[in-house]
Amino acid sequence: MSLIAEDIRVTYGKREALRGIDLTALPGDVTAIVGPNGSGKSTLLSAITASLPFQGRVGLNGRDIGALKSWELAAQRAVLPQASRLAFPFTALEVVRLGLQSGTAGDKPEVPMQALARVGLAHYANRTFQELSGGEAQRVMLARVLAQVWAPVEGGQPRWLLLDEPVSSLDIAHQLQVMEIARDFARAGGGVIAVMHDLNLTALYADRVAILAEGKRLAFGSPTEVLTDDILSRAYGCALRVSAPPPQGVPYVLPHAAAV
Ligand SMILES: Nc1ncnc2c1ncn2[C@@H]1O[C@H](COP(=O)(O)OP(=O)(O)O)[C@@H](O)[C@H]1O
Ligand SMILES: [Mg+2]
Repeated sequence: MSLIAEDIRVTYGKREALRGIDLTALPGDVTAIVGPNGSGKSTLLSAITASLPFQGRVGLNGRDIGALKSWELAAQRAVLPQASRLAFPFTALEVVRLGLQSGTAGDKPEVPMQALARVGLAHYANRTFQELSGGEAQRVMLARVLAQVWAPVEGGQPRWLLLDEPVSSLDIAHQLQVMEIARDFARAGGGVIAVMHDLNLTALYADRVAILAEGKRLAFGSPTEVLTDDILSRAYGCALRVSAPPPQGVPYVLPHAAAV
């Protein structure tokens, strides 16, 4: 049971956005995708979620996603898109209920409130979604995808959370809260793939990290293996220094100028 992407290629018009990417994510792990703006992170997530045409193969829990019906996909994986806003005047609770309807917990009406409570926004249930701040809206959208795959394991199969920059507009406390939610989901047997920008949060929470650059996978491994001066400086095209407190601490990344 895993999520396996093989030789994924995507072209937009004539431009190759992904040039043959492999990625294996295991249940129990938080797998991070990092890389510079435009390196193909969102495109890779869209291919994995079968939401754009691609060449290659994606296997979800042992089945080719091309062979899965949309309701089967919705039951097995929930997708948090990058910075999505809804145009309709739904309340926060109604937005979360939308996730419930497309998932498998449809007979559990208590789940949306529990999901809102999980992101610390139960008291905002009746607020109009459009009135929320960017960070609050992002957490409501996370509650929505949590409601969709509420049980990390169902029928002996892992459920998958696919998150595109889930902490991009959050303050530090809520960044930690959301990463804890992702890690708890994985530790309970689900799988998480998260596109991340913050390399230090990635080092703290990811079990495996894929680094993309220009539509290729530059590195894939544990944070200690891939968050190195050399790999990061090549990926981002700027001088970065990685340190780790002794003896075997979590790596942390500093821009070169700040580190000297
Ligand atoms: N719908 C699209 N049409 C044309 N080009 C696109 C489209 N979406 C993304 N791209 C291009 O593909 C590349 C990868 O984009 P994306 O996957 O969004 O990058 P990232 O998420 O890593 O910032 C970029 O060069 C981007 O401009
Ligand atoms: Mg993106």
